[in-house]
Amino acid sequence: GEIHYHEFVVQAKSVTRLCSTHSIITVNGQFPGPTLAVRNGDTLVIRVLNRAPYNVTLHWHGVRQMRTPWADGPEYVTQCPIQPGGTYTYRFTIENQEGTLWWHAHSRWLRATVYGALVIFPKQGFAYPFAKPKLDVPIILGEWWKRDIISVMRQALFTGAAPNVSDAYTINGQPGDLYRCSNRGTFKVYVNSGDTVLLRVINAALNQQLFFTIANHQLTVVGADASYLKPFSTRVIMLGPGQTTDVLLNANQRAGRYYMAARAYATAQGAPFDNTTTTAILEYRNSRTGSFSRPILPQLPAFNDTATTTAFTSQLRSIPSNYKVPTQIDDSLFFTVGLGFVNCNPGPRCQGPNNTRFAASMNNVSFVLPNRTSLLQAYYQNIPGIYTLDFPPVPPVQFNYTGTVPRSQWQPVFGTKLYKLKFGANVQIVLQDTGIFSTEDHPIHLHGYHFFVVGQGFGNFNPQTDTGNFNLVDPPSRNTIDVPVGGWAVIRFVADNPGVWLFHCHIDSHLTWGLAMSFIVENGRGELQTVEPPPADLPRC
Ligand code: C2O
Repeated sequence: GEIHYHEFVVQAKSVTRLCSTHSIITVNGQFPGPTLAVRNGDTLVIRVLNRAPYNVTLHWHGVRQMRTPWADGPEYVTQCPIQPGGTYTYRFTIENQEGTLWWHAHSRWLRATVYGALVIFPKQGFAYPFAKPKLDVPIILGEWWKRDIISVMRQALFTGAAPNVSDAYTINGQPGDLYRCSNRGTFKVYVNSGDTVLLRVINAALNQQLFFTIANHQLTVVGADASYLKPFSTRVIMLGPGQTTDVLLNANQRAGRYYMAARAYATAQGAPFDNTTTTAILEYRNSRTGSFSRPILPQLPAFNDTATTTAFTSQLRSIPSNYKVPTQIDDSLFFTVGLGFVNCNPGPRCQGPNNTRFAASMNNVSFVLPNRTSLLQAYYQNIPGIYTLDFPPVPPVQFNYTGTVPRSQWQPVFGTKLYKLKFGANVQIVLQDTGIFSTEDHPIHLHGYHFFVVGQGFGNFNPQTDTGNFNLVDPPSRNTIDVPVGGWAVIRFVADNPGVWLFHCHIDSHLTWGLAMSFIVENGRGELQTVEPPPADLPRC
């Protein structure tokens, strides 16, 4: 493959949205950041210069990073952050992945504005499994805060009060003209009648599942998370934070102007939601109505429309590929995922009800990042005292997970607990939502891997009745699974990529509260199954 060199300067920049101007962190002064476009098999060399006043790291979300975990990016997991004034060069190769991924900051909540698309075309001489589209357009969904993002993060971390709802959702960085002062920047896609457009939809929102739809047009889903899918037609798609979905749009309607729109899918019971809608415009060039006429607005599902979400996700089926679904399981794990409270001493860091604050957990462990070195360095260089290897493979106590759970039964413990997987093991993980605080969808992301989603459902997972219904034939292959509200999902993968890999909820408030753990995947035999040595410029803590 080809080698692509890029320089990413992380820097502050003044940006105006929603009638007010403030300074955000960007890459190269762009918001959203630059789109990376490569072919399957190509190598990326990205030199990052940090000219921002914060520590930062960049993560290439969904890139497998085979044997190059040093380039993965989550701070204190695979590297120490790049300090202000520092540099680090990420170098990695795309192996057997095609479609849409993205990149984002992986340091506190900086990914609110530090993100961009990563588009992977087929190898030279190879074709898509569908007719080549006329146009190819990344559509990045995001959120906009008028306030400084680090202070928004601190508030979320120390309170049990109302979640921090953003001031707008965005499409390619723009709130769209249903919001105040947002007319001029509204993102537009121009088409001619009969064109086919590949829309690469990415949910880069910090804390929000989103529906996406286009007025009067059907969408044909052809891929998700850089894996091709059997095409199917739908009016609306739903993406959890971290997920991507590739859809084909045929410009086969009356020439005119149509809104593309995204709106929250918020399942938390009683949680406030923002029912505003971000829009972009699909405009036919041969339209007679002119660019002053009001675009047609699509119907969007209600914010709590779980049925539409389930109907959509149950249609995802992979096309045959090199990857096979594991049938024999070597390591069978069961992780609860959910929100809860911990007691704390009254003070500025303890602002929840009755002297508590939020703490999210997996199997009752609320994950704590180290700060002296990264987990990968500690593992690779045998530095003791950074983590323990006692992450529980099953919940420490069993109960009716999605029922009403007394807090006394489920007080999370804090720890940097990891779980070790043997190289080549066939792994199954049941992800079970809990109802301790409230049931919610959790978009769970595994670094360094994609996995098959072999089953999902509502209520408590029941191995006797649910296992028989697994799809072991054509399950979708993903890097982020949106575990259904008050339900479960089961994923399978082969542990063929050695390193230390973060596994976490891609809702940043939940991640900040501890909804994470990390796997160590041991080296296999020989060079091709072994973690490469760390790059010489790996940042120090
Ligand atoms: Cu997209 Cu750990 O991240």
